[in-house]
Amino acid sequence: MHKEIYDINLGNTDHSIRRNADSDFISFWDKQAKLLSWFKNWENTLDWNPPFAKWFVGGKINASFNALDVHQNSKSRKTAIFWEGEDGSSREISYSELFTDVKKFANVLKSLGVKKGDRVTIYLPMVPELPISMLACARIGATHTVVFSGFSAISLKDRVEDSQSKVIITADGGYRKGKIINLKEIVDEKAAAVNSVEHIIILERTKMKITLNQKDKFWSNLMSDASDDCDAEELDSMHPLYILYTSGTTGKPKGVLHGTGGYLTHINSTYKWAFDIKDNDIYFCTADIGWVTGHSYVVYGPLLHGATQVMYEGAPDYPNASRMWEIIQKYNVTIFYTTPTALRMFMKFGDDLPNSFNLTTLRLLGTVGEPINPEVWKWYFNTIGKKKCPIIDTWWQTETGGMMISSLPGLESIPLKPGSATKPIPGVEITVVDENGNDVDENTKGSLIIRKPWPGMLLGLWNDNEKYNDVYWSKFSGMYYPGDYAIKDSDGYLWLLGRSDDVLKVAGHRIGTAELESSLVSYHNVAESAVCGIPDEIKGESIIAFVVLKENVTESRDELLIKLKEIIRNDVGAIATPQQFYFVTKLPKTRSGKIMRRLLKSIASGENIGDVSTLEDGTAVSEVQSAFEELKKSIGENKSN
Ligand code: WTA
Repeated sequence: MHKEIYDINLGNTDHSIRRNADSDFISFWDKQAKLLSWFKNWENTLDWNPPFAKWFVGGKINASFNALDVHQNSKSRKTAIFWEGEDGSSREISYSELFTDVKKFANVLKSLGVKKGDRVTIYLPMVPELPISMLACARIGATHTVVFSGFSAISLKDRVEDSQSKVIITADGGYRKGKIINLKEIVDEKAAAVNSVEHIIILERTKMKITLNQKDKFWSNLMSDASDDCDAEELDSMHPLYILYTSGTTGKPKGVLHGTGGYLTHINSTYKWAFDIKDNDIYFCTADIGWVTGHSYVVYGPLLHGATQVMYEGAPDYPNASRMWEIIQKYNVTIFYTTPTALRMFMKFGDDLPNSFNLTTLRLLGTVGEPINPEVWKWYFNTIGKKKCPIIDTWWQTETGGMMISSLPGLESIPLKPGSATKPIPGVEITVVDENGNDVDENTKGSLIIRKPWPGMLLGLWNDNEKYNDVYWSKFSGMYYPGDYAIKDSDGYLWLLGRSDDVLKVAGHRIGTAELESSLVSYHNVAESAVCGIPDEIKGESIIAFVVLKENVTESRDELLIKLKEIIRNDVGAIATPQQFYFVTKLPKTRSGKIMRRLLKSIASGENIGDVSTLEDGTAVSEVQSAFEELKKSIGENKSN
């Protein structure tokens, strides 16, 4: 663990808020909820019927009202979004323009028969119409389910089908690294035929030629006829705001379901505490809205606060590695929130690039999505922040809705330690436990757990209460299990050590090994497969696939590689393509048939097996060692890129 301490005292050293919150978390969150605009107050702050939490029961609220209507007097002319296209085009959208477009699009959805409680799938690139679509859904009480525009036709169809969406909103195409992704064509491949889908709305982003089908309608035509008069629906606090699918340890992605009142309370408060947002700030978060960071801290967080933000359409290194620095300089960005993967990539290009831009407007920096290595943290602090910007390392998940562990410059000043996300947010109790659920000693690795419900907590998994209970609440009785390893040091700081389950974090994207394995075995020549992650200098982790072929396969290795990569790209998306394949004769398994993943990981990273005494299922050490030797031998010449 890194011992250095960076103490940037921002003046606010009063820790009483934290103490009060910890002594009565219910009253604490009750006060936070009152910072939002409610149509009707709640009768009960928390109804906790484990593992289901209902926040602000009886309250009526609307997310779009809190993001837009509340700003129309004081901030209608303020810029909500400076949009920067990958191709150099740009747009500036004020709070009143955003308001008008959202109301118009809400009427479009209504005219197509979308009602409160219906689901709408949004498959768009990073364009302003993406938040506009989400807010329009929220306005009328439809549940949005955004699918990252890098996902494949099959992934999209699975999500549309699972959520039973009535409408799909997409674009003719989207720009990525100078190329066009044919989004509408991908929709047509599979998702368009799902029975529940009645209409497909197409935004003309690239103006490329597309084939129109019966369900298709153009965004611009629909908008030109729409009225801009649309009141926000008064929705129950528990009303489902969105479903966001995320990978877990099973082959099928889980539909994480978030409500309205609790979620907004969590996002509103954490956005203020973490970023210390002020009226004249220019905020820039590089996350794609297809992931939870984009939902919470590109769409809802900044808009709830009437903040001005920069939204960028494309890849962070397009057309070159100074694109982010150029954007910061162009818009005088004051707050920058990005991922360790992006920072590791930028750092590789040296200091001259960022040093050739004026980054002095920056006052606060943040990271999210993966553990940040102390060297990268220090580079971020010294080279980008010029030693004057605090860094917030924010730990959270799709399921938690918002930040759970982070330093909070907007609330209190605490010394920072490079590589530690520091402490839980107020009103949240997080600790580290051993296999039996008992607190571990200081500086000892264990599983991270959350003890009490929090307002941004998922309502459950879409249509699957049993899985919700199994995945998150059954490993340790009465505690939420996020699936991360951690250490708590003697100052109470938390150090996140990566996933303890079979979920990979590749360039910050969450990818389940089981999804990839079931995709690989769907190929007729594959008998079995196991996927694991190994450390990667830039992406945090890279994917390695072990494949056992069926007998008498005649296909060459090269042919197989092309096929297997294509299958992953088609089933999941290009982000999940393994970096390396090993063709082996058998997979090392415990006596009860579980794949010994740690062993695969060690082999793929060229390490020794290390301490095997605690290996899965109490399998004999000698057995593990011989499996290790056998596998190494079998790999021999069979390693292929
Ligand atoms: C990991 C992303 C270390 C963690 C917001 C978590 C982190 C998973 C951090 C959730 C961090 C997120 N330090 N690890 N600051 N933030 N993680 O659902 O493993 O895409 O469980 O949400 O990312 O990923 P998800």
